[in-house]
Amino acid sequence: MFKDKTIVIGVTGGIAVYKVCDLVSRLKKLNATVKVIMTKSAAQFVSPLTFQTLSAGKVYTEMFEYLDHWDVEHISVAKSADVFLVAPATANVIGKIRHGIADDMLTTTIMASTAPKVIAPAMNTNMYMNPVVQDNMKTLKNLGYIFAEPDSGYLACGDLGAGRLTDAENIIAKLEEVLNPYKPLEGRTVLVTAGPTQESLDPVRYLTNHSTGKMGYAIARKAVEFGAKVTLISGPVNIEKPDGLLKFIGIKSADEMFEAVKDELDSIEIVIKSAAVADYRPISVADNKIKKKDGNLNIELERNPDILKYIGQHKGDKILAGFAAETENIIENGKRKLVSKNLDFIIINNIKETDAGFGTDTNIVTILDKYGVQKDYEKMLKDEVAKEILDKIVEISSQK
Ligand code: CTP
Repeated sequence: MFKDKTIVIGVTGGIAVYKVCDLVSRLKKLNATVKVIMTKSAAQFVSPLTFQTLSAGKVYTEMFEYLDHWDVEHISVAKSADVFLVAPATANVIGKIRHGIADDMLTTTIMASTAPKVIAPAMNTNMYMNPVVQDNMKTLKNLGYIFAEPDSGYLACGDLGAGRLTDAENIIAKLEEVLNPYKPLEGRTVLVTAGPTQESLDPVRYLTNHSTGKMGYAIARKAVEFGAKVTLISGPVNIEKPDGLLKFIGIKSADEMFEAVKDELDSIEIVIKSAAVADYRPISVADNKIKKKDGNLNIELERNPDILKYIGQHKGDKILAGFAAETENIIENGKRKLVSKNLDFIIINNIKETDAGFGTDTNIVTILDKYGVQKDYEKMLKDEVAKEILDKIVEISSQK
C-alpha cells in the first residue's frame, strides 16, 4: 500500500506512545519507509531502540547531537517525507506547531517540511476540550493539517471522554487518504453557482434573500478535492473563497449570473446550481435614491431569467444538478422542478426546518434523480451534504 513512500513520524511524550510502536510495525508491513523522530519526553515512555528495531532505521532524538551536520539532518529528513505524522500529539506539540515554535528536532523538522501533515492527538480529555487547544487545532485545520481525531473512552488518567489516541487502522486510513487521494473527477470541468443575487432598486437599495453561500462553497471545495477543475460563480457572500479553483466570477444580479453562466457553459461538463437566484427584479432601477413620500410605495417587479431552466434546455450531455428550496409539498415541488428543468438530479431542502436551509452549517436534504431514485438524509453538515452530491455526480458519470 505504501511502497516507495516515506512516512516521517514525530512521536511526543504520552502513554499512547506504546500504541505507535504497533503502528510503526504495521506501516513497515505495508512497505512504507518509516523514519521516527522522538521528543525527549517520548523517550521516557519507550526507548528509541524499540522504534529503531521496529522501523529498521535511524531514530532521531536530539537536534544538537551531531553539531557538525545537524542542520543538514533536520532538513534532509523533512525533505524525504511524503507525509509527516505526529502521533501521539500532545497539547504541547500542537501548541508549538500552531505558534511556529521550533525548539527541538521534531518541531524544527515539521516546520521545514512541505509534505502533508497528519496529527493524531492524545491527551487528557479536559486538556483536549480546553478552548486554547481547540483553537490551536482549528487554526491548524484551516492551514491544511489533517487530524486523525481521538476516540472517546476511559483514558489512562482514569477520566472518561475524548482524548484517546485513535486506533492504528484510523491513522493508516488517513495516511492512505493523503498518499493515495481519491480524485474521481480528476480533470473534469465543474461549474458551481452559489450565494444570493442582489436586484437593485436604486443606488442605495436592493432586493435579495437569506442565502449565505455556505452550501455552494462547500460543493465547490469538495469538487476541487475530487480533482475537478472548478469554476465558481458567486453572488455577494461573506465567506472565504475555496482554494484551488480554476476560476472565480463574482456577480451581483441574476442577469449578471445568467451572462456569466452562458459565457462558461460550452467548456463545462458538470453543473451544480446551488445559487438562490431572485425570480424577480425591479422593473426599473432609479438613477437617484428614491425619496420617501406620504402613503405606500409600490414596486413593480419583472421576471428574471430561469438560469437552470436555460441550462436544461441546452444540456447536451452535461450532468446537471439543481436545488429546490421548499416550504410546503416538498417532494412534489422538487419532482416538478427536476422534470421541468431537465435535471439529472435535484437536491430538495425544506428551508422551514430548524438547522436546514439558509445560513446554517447543517442541512436536511432529499436527493431525487431522474430515474426516480430517492434518498432522504438525516441532518448533516453542509460539507457532508456536498460529499453526497459529488458522490451522486460520480455515480451518474460512471453510468454515461
Ligand atoms: N434557479 C435559477 N434561476 C432562477 C431561479 C432558480 O437558476 N431564476 C435555480 C436555482 O439555482 C435552483 C433551482 O433553480 O437550483 C430551483 O430554485 P428554487 O428557488 O427552489 O425554485 P424556482 O425555480 O425559483 O421556483 P419557485 O420559486 O416557484 O419555487
